[in-house]
Order: sequence, then C-alpha cells, then structure tokens
Amino acid sequence: MNDDYISFNRPVIAGEELEFIVDSIQKGWVSGDGPYTKKAQELLEHQIGSDCKVLLTTSCTHALEMSAILIDITPGDEVIVPSFTFVSTALAFVMRGAKPVFADIRPDTLNMDEGIIERLITDKTRAIVPVHYAGVGCDMDAIMDIARARNLVVIEDNAHGLYGKYKKRNLGSIGHLATQSFHETKNIICGEGGALVINDDEYSERAEIVREKGTDRSRFFRGQVDKYSWIDIGSSYVMSDILAAFLYGQLLNSATIQENRKAIWEFYFKNLQEWAERSGVRMPLVPDYCQQAYHMFYLLMPSQEIRSDFMSYLEKYVIPRIIAMTIIMVMVQATAADTATSYPGGYSVKQTFSIAR
Ligand SMILES: Cc1ncc(COP(=O)(O)O)c(C=O)c1O
Repeated sequence: MNDDYISFNRPVIAGEELEFIVDSIQKGWVSGDGPYTKKAQELLEHQIGSDCKVLLTTSCTHALEMSAILIDITPGDEVIVPSFTFVSTALAFVMRGAKPVFADIRPDTLNMDEGIIERLITDKTRAIVPVHYAGVGCDMDAIMDIARARNLVVIEDNAHGLYGKYKKRNLGSIGHLATQSFHETKNIICGEGGALVINDDEYSERAEIVREKGTDRSRFFRGQVDKYSWIDIGSSYVMSDILAAFLYGQLLNSATIQENRKAIWEFYFKNLQEWAERSGVRMPLVPDYCQQAYHMFYLLMPSQEIRSDFMSYLEKYVIPRIIAMTIIMVMVQATAADTATSYPGGYSVKQTFSIAR
C-alpha cells in the first residue's frame, strides 16, 4: 500500500517477532502447544492476572465458540449480547442453536446497557456476553451482580479490550470466561489468532479437551496418560507455534505498542476536538472508572447526511492521505424490533465512523 495512505490498521513489528518465528521453525515445533505457545500463554496469564488460565486459539471467534461448548449451550437457550458488535459475539452461540437476545447499547460508551439486562432475562437465558467496545470497559460490577443473582455465566468478548481496565481490574479478568483477538486489526497481533481466558477453574480441564478436537491430547503431551483418546465434542482450535512465536514477540513489547496507540488516539482527540464541537460530532467518551485500551477512535456523526458528506469530503480532498473506513458493514445491525428498547434520538450504527489505525 502507498505510504501516503493512513490505513485502518498497519501491522507492526515491535521487537523480535521474526527471530522467534525462525527459531520456532529451527526448533522443529511448528504445530500447536510448542515452546512459544507456552511462553505466550504464561506471559498473557501474567499480564491479565487474577490467576487466570490462558489457552491460545485460532481466533477470538473460535474462543467464543469454545465458550458456547463449555457452558453447554443447547438449541433454544438464550444469550444476551449487545446490539452493536461484531458478528462473532452472537454467531458463536447461534452456531450451537442459541437465540441471541440483543441488548441496546448505552449512548455514552456504546457498550451494552447494564440497566436493561434484567428485563431481557427469561428462564432460557444462559449467559451474558458484554463487549468492551473500542477497549472501554462495560459496567462489569452491575453485570456480574445480575449474573450472580440469576445464575448466569458472563463471557467477556474482550477482542478490543486487552490492557484496558475497569475500576483498576484488567478487562478479560472479570467474567467467568473471556476471549481475546490477535487478528491483524487488533493492538497485539499475530495475523489471525485469539485466546480463551478462563477465570473460573471449573472450565479449565474441559477447555483443553474441546480445544484439541475433543481429545485428551494435552494430558498425553504432559505424560499424564499413555495414549490420547476421543472423549468429548470439540474442534481444531489450537494456534500454530509459528504464530505463537510472532505473538510472543508482540506481547513482550506490549508497553511500547500501547504507548504508540495512545499517542495516535490522543492526536486525533486533540486535533479533532474543536472541529467536532463546532460540527455537532460526538467524540469517544471514556468514563472515569475506565482505563481504555486505545483500540479504536470513532466519531458519532449527527446525521446520516452529514456522515455521507464527510465521507465524500474525505474522498475528494483527503484521500489518498486517509482511507476512511466505516465499521458498519461488519457490525451486527440489529433492528429496533430486535432490541429491548430504543433510545429516543439514539445512535444508529450507520452514524458511526471510524478512522483509527
Ligand atoms: C467484538 C469482537 N468480537 C470478536 C471478533 C472476532 O475476532 P477474530 O477475528 O479474532 O475471530 C471481533 C473482530 O473484530 C470483534 O470486534
């Protein structure tokens, strides 16, 4: 791509990623659960903290699918997901026959509105799946309280939120389970990849089996059984050690990567502030109790027309300096009928416009 373009996301090499890849190949262990997978998992466990167990997976979508299997979703179950998210948040549960119940989002953070969750719970509800949109935490105290009172599982879809905090607690460490993405568009990447974060030990043993095609191969590798067998459902969710090697290089340099993302985010915020105020454009809002992950910079345009005009302006005058990318295409576009409530004058996903990189 032409260097003059400001791309939606540009992969960075922050340290020894390439050396680690070569090393993994030279060591002769390029399938899953090799030395780099172990190092990356341990480092992530340390970074996310609170005694979690991390299993690298082929994607965040797959980590969500594993969660659906682990909580035994069966056809007819209901799972509460935000009305504004990437498709995988809902799809992973739909794949197991669940009905996604869309909770409207809050106008300030664009996160699931914790105030309406109670109203959506029925005797079929099994789980709540909050998404920390753009790396800004949902109100996890409220969500966990509801889940405890109603005996529901909370799975944080933390694809955007690695290194973000909610009331000083790391995002991804609060729900029973959490999922991470290392897709190219995220802060920490390995091309395609993800992780399942297990905060409730109840799921640990079975998660290893589900991730290894329903077999106890992990136990076999540890020498705990003399052969491995098929014992449960599952699929091929193990990340290659080549990708884990790249990921490990990124994780070691996460502080530098995050500093860089912060600087870019703050540049947009500072330089667009005056224009945004003048033009009725809403900038991202980070509540005091959150430390954001600097994943995404978005703008809420006052109307569909202004959004289109803005896009045309960028195309006419700014492109090729900026490639503007709308995020609406990939977002779940729940209709008002799908959602529990509608905010008067609320934000339509069509009005969101993202220029993060
Ligand atoms: C909120 C959310 N969940 C899940 C995913 C899926 O991540 P992956 O591409 O690693 O499967 C994404 C991807 O952008 C996302 O934004």
